[in-house]
Amino acid sequence: VPYEWIAPLLTKVAGLCLLLIAVLFAFVSPPPSGFSWGAGGSAYQTEGAWNVDGKGMSIWDAFAHKKGKIFLNDTGDFSCEGYHKVKDDISLMKDMNLKHYRFSISWPRILPTGIKNENINEKGIRYYDDLINKLLENKITPIVTLYHWDLPQILEEKYRGWQNASMVNLFNDFANLCFERFGNRVRHWITFNNPWVMEGYETGEHAPGLKLRGVGAYKAAHHIIKAHAKVWHTYDTQWRNKQKGLVGISLSGDWGEPVDISNQRDIEAAERYVQFYMGWFATPLFNGDYPQVMKDYIGRKSAQQGLGASRLPVFTAQEKSYIRGTCDFLGIGHFTTRYITQKNYPSGRGNSYFTDRDLAELVDPRWPDPGSEWLYSVPWGFRRLLNFVKKQYGNPMIYVTENGVSEKMMCTDLCDDWRMQYFKDYINEMLKAIKDGVNIKAYTAWSLLDKFEWDEGYSERFGLYYVDFRDKNKPRYPKASVQYYKSIISSNGFPNQRELESWKGKAIETCSSSNQLLAADPLISHMGMVTEIVVPTMCTLSILLSAVFLMFLLRRRL
Ligand code: NOJ
Repeated sequence: VPYEWIAPLLTKVAGLCLLLIAVLFAFVSPPPSGFSWGAGGSAYQTEGAWNVDGKGMSIWDAFAHKKGKIFLNDTGDFSCEGYHKVKDDISLMKDMNLKHYRFSISWPRILPTGIKNENINEKGIRYYDDLINKLLENKITPIVTLYHWDLPQILEEKYRGWQNASMVNLFNDFANLCFERFGNRVRHWITFNNPWVMEGYETGEHAPGLKLRGVGAYKAAHHIIKAHAKVWHTYDTQWRNKQKGLVGISLSGDWGEPVDISNQRDIEAAERYVQFYMGWFATPLFNGDYPQVMKDYIGRKSAQQGLGASRLPVFTAQEKSYIRGTCDFLGIGHFTTRYITQKNYPSGRGNSYFTDRDLAELVDPRWPDPGSEWLYSVPWGFRRLLNFVKKQYGNPMIYVTENGVSEKMMCTDLCDDWRMQYFKDYINEMLKAIKDGVNIKAYTAWSLLDKFEWDEGYSERFGLYYVDFRDKNKPRYPKASVQYYKSIISSNGFPNQRELESWKGKAIETCSSSNQLLAADPLISHMGMVTEIVVPTMCTLSILLSAVFLMFLLRRRL
């Protein structure tokens, strides 16, 4: 008899539950299972140990050692001392439950002269072996970048680095060595990080410090694109069958939004901004040649200058087909957005990459900008960029290789609510892009640690972990965002608004106690100074004094 009323009741309850679940999923859609949450860093920015164990010099070592190039003349000589702290850093990653860690291999650390046939530095190889093994032991996937801007200095001196086509083969040899030595354990390779090398070859603000306006960066990029393609083919023909990995590139791209969306000229200028940025590299790799708009603009301006050929180099038909389709996945580093408007730059002597584009960049003063002066938080730009990539390049597999925000140098507040807000907003936009159908496989928070921020030295802190650079042990302190990101990882995205707020609350609570630790730090370093300098000096002095006194006494007795 009870079945008569229990059965319909149960059906109703089940129906209600299903409805509730459906409603929940309509609002929050977690990324697909297998999505990877990670964090990253790069060799020169974190390793330190610049001349240890046989490492050769890189262009960044040389550049940073010159006075006046880096804020406060800082260098990456010691940085986070990551070279000596593999175990410690992996336990930080483990604690956060990171699924992957993105790092780069320093070319001169394993090939001090840059050339494979000359000298392989086994100690350097051992360091990366150890790092990879320990990551894997802890179930953290290594995502490895082969070039994060630290070309062997000797190649710059001998060949003018990326200005010279011979880098293509030399880089291929280096990459091949990495596949040979590490490829049995590494499945994700990024050939180049952000080869938008403007600062190195156009303005001279980055290594190697060349100011070859309107020419140098185009030339360097041309060789970099060829080198990428060559490395992809090397992997494809020699290693893929055995190692079953993927080879991609990591491009950085800001989003450009037209200032006036009803003005065709602004719309085109904004499109040009993105094409000159990410399209410069992505279009050859996916479609075989530079974006048409780059060819048109640079070609026209070069002609107006009276040059016989475009300053933008040209790929032969053979090269185009060799380069096309050489990306197993596209890495995207994204931080910010600009409003774009059309602006004519008459061609003349002041030609440069920047004037070639015929546009002006603007920002909305209401956009939050907690750290680096170029970095405004504009989350919606991220979703637009991701959708642009999907449309332009045939929905490629995307790895978000960098996304994050900095704070100013003097800020020692570990309760970084602005970073939690940035992560929340940007990750939400990424999740919406996944819902839009963008094929995103991974998200990499940038960065795990505070680190050397290129020409800005240590003045901009991107880390989830605060690094006390004043202390020679470079202790790491978790910022509140560590706890927050950890919760995002454990729930594979965002469950609901209320939970988010409570994570934030908890994160802020825990960071206050770390703040106290950090505040006590000057005292600790002071104590360090006492034990390491004052005490030994006093002891030596007392021994010396006693010896003099003893001699004096003995002489008098005699
Ligand atoms: C992109 C670079 O790849 C990375 O090294 C740097 O830390 C970030 N931009 C932030 O400036």
